Amino acid sequence: MIKFDNDVFYVNTKNLSYVFSVKENGFLKHLYFGKSIPYENDVAKLSNTYLRIWAVSYDDKLSETFDTCEFPCDGVGDFRPSSAQLINDKNEEACAFLFDGYEIKKGIVKPDALPSPRDDENTQTLIVKLKDYYSNATLNLYYAVYYENDVILRRSEIINGGENAIFVKKLLSANIDFRETDFELLYLHGRNANEKHLKRQEVTSSLTVLDSKNGISSHNLSPFYILCDKNANEFTGRSYGMQLMYSGNFIAEILDDGVGNTRANIGLNDYKFNYSLKYKEKLESPWAVITCSLSGFNGVSKNFNDFTGKYVLPLSYSNEKRPVVVNTWDSCVFDVDEEKCIKIIDKAKEIGADLFVIDDGWFGRRDWSEEDGLGDWVENKEKFPNGLEYISNYAKKSGLKFGLWVEPEMVNPKSDLFHSHPEWTLCYHKKPIFISRHQYVLDFSNPAVVEYMTRVMCDLIERLGLDYIKYDMNRQICEYVSLATENGKIAYLHMVGVYKMLDTITKKYPQLLIENCSSGGGRYDLGMCAYSPQTWISDNTNPFERTRIAYYSSMMLPISTASCHTVGKERCPNCDYEFIFDCAKTRPFGVENDLLKATAEELAILKKQIEEYKKVYADVIFYDFYRLQFSNEEVAYNLVSKDKKKAILMVSKLLDNSNPPYKNVKLYGLCEEYVYKCNLGDFYGSTLMNVGIPIVDLSKAGKSVEIIFTAKS
Ligand code: GLA
Repeated sequence: MIKFDNDVFYVNTKNLSYVFSVKENGFLKHLYFGKSIPYENDVAKLSNTYLRIWAVSYDDKLSETFDTCEFPCDGVGDFRPSSAQLINDKNEEACAFLFDGYEIKKGIVKPDALPSPRDDENTQTLIVKLKDYYSNATLNLYYAVYYENDVILRRSEIINGGENAIFVKKLLSANIDFRETDFELLYLHGRNANEKHLKRQEVTSSLTVLDSKNGISSHNLSPFYILCDKNANEFTGRSYGMQLMYSGNFIAEILDDGVGNTRANIGLNDYKFNYSLKYKEKLESPWAVITCSLSGFNGVSKNFNDFTGKYVLPLSYSNEKRPVVVNTWDSCVFDVDEEKCIKIIDKAKEIGADLFVIDDGWFGRRDWSEEDGLGDWVENKEKFPNGLEYISNYAKKSGLKFGLWVEPEMVNPKSDLFHSHPEWTLCYHKKPIFISRHQYVLDFSNPAVVEYMTRVMCDLIERLGLDYIKYDMNRQICEYVSLATENGKIAYLHMVGVYKMLDTITKKYPQLLIENCSSGGGRYDLGMCAYSPQTWISDNTNPFERTRIAYYSSMMLPISTASCHTVGKERCPNCDYEFIFDCAKTRPFGVENDLLKATAEELAILKKQIEEYKKVYADVIFYDFYRLQFSNEEVAYNLVSKDKKKAILMVSKLLDNSNPPYKNVKLYGLCEEYVYKCNLGDFYGSTLMNVGIPIVDLSKAGKSVEIIFTAKS
């Protein structure tokens, strides 16, 4: 898997080779990443070749200027985006990391303060050690190999070995310099309540930057992208995937350098970033997860999703069916109280749900609006005169689990917490703080805040016997200034604080189901997935749009992480209950319908759907999900069980299309030799995948055709 031979590192997975070398001048040179090359030593011969091109170099030979660098440095003649920038102990802005040894370890070497996947007996880690030519700083590059999954993880770590402070201005996790161009770039963009649009564009000599600066991985751009050959599509073509296991400010830079190389990287955003390191202190970057597939984008997603399901999602839930949730937000908004909750629990029981969640509105002086309460995580006694124990007990006696919405990183200026600890808020000294949704951001870079809020959360979980929390984060960060932490460190240490709290909570209560949320999909990333098996992927519950959001989310994260609920007809007057259910039922499932107003007919429909979900769909969230087709008019996907014995094809109409053309939909990911039984007859997998299955009579928006396939034994 990992080997060092003749100054060349080989970091190989089952189907991929990743090769880089130590050049004569001590810099690391990237040689190759892609399909396995059996005669890999051939690549080694390319290590000390150089470009006869106008360049800057120490020895007039091995220039970095346009070379393929493994970890591009700064101030060394490479003017493309670097992977690190330092102000060293002599106040010089430069870094030139040169090879100084390596180690190969069994298992994964986890970062101290950031999330990490689990490992198994096959996992190996390579640590490459480098020393800065200009200062006493050292750099460790980590490569973890998940052989069977065709996934390689990379991260970096800078340590100050000198007595004077240094400042890290930029630190990335991974960089790949391809000695080729003509790639295309795919990424996901969007906005609040309208996440996950797919964009495909050429990689050009004008730098493309994907990033977030608002303290979260963001609704706007996800910390994920695919680089592919021009002819690549969902099913074929060489495609590289990169994503970051991080939930704060990230950056990814993609560039065709004009002389035959493509640079693609990902890591910590350098926005308002200036991280001081005293003697022996270190800064670690998050893990970047990298893969490559010759089976197009579905291949990349499968590698990512299998890896995430097995090694990242919390162990207690990685294979566990999820409860059917009834949540109060859509029906009550802030106006929850004891009487309503009891009534909703009764209805939830009647329809066969598993878990009752009180969303926003239950705490502090939270009234009809968002102006007060955040920070005061005690139930509002006017709304809940008998305390939440009463509701919790009532839910449990009714056979339901019980959960609460919380937003631990936030505080309202009117709250008691803010009055007793104004210094715990991110703010410019003595200046008014920006308000968004009437709230300020608590300073999680301050360990006292993290400790306090962790205690408050643990007390709540224990006192009320919580089975679930919806962990929300509804405000972007714009004041990167704190009274406790140096400027330049806040964005990063805020995330470190959040992870610390989540780590403590998940270790203490491994059975607690944490549903991640940040105004929907604002922080839907691998970092949060390490603590939270499912995410409320959007506040947009319209089934048409939710279908797109869930469909493209599957590019980077497994469908078992993407919650989708049924909604009342008021959310989508032009589709029926069946369609609403079709759009939600293959994901972690729940009910947003207003159960207080629901008619007997609506309740009966919901009851039937929940029965069906439990019987047919509850474990479909662990199937492989393949995207088949998405257009404004129509979406088609199929799901296949891991043993390939069961499959579901879903084709949903998103726009009316009278007199639609003939259409055979070709399935994907089945076993060619299995004979699958479905309502149209028995067919070999190869027939279903090559000829397809006719989809007839699908002209009306808000209708789906679903076909279930079972392999005959
Ligand atoms: C966010 C969430 C919603 C809901 C509200 C409560 O917007 O995304 O689902 O929980 O907060 O304030």
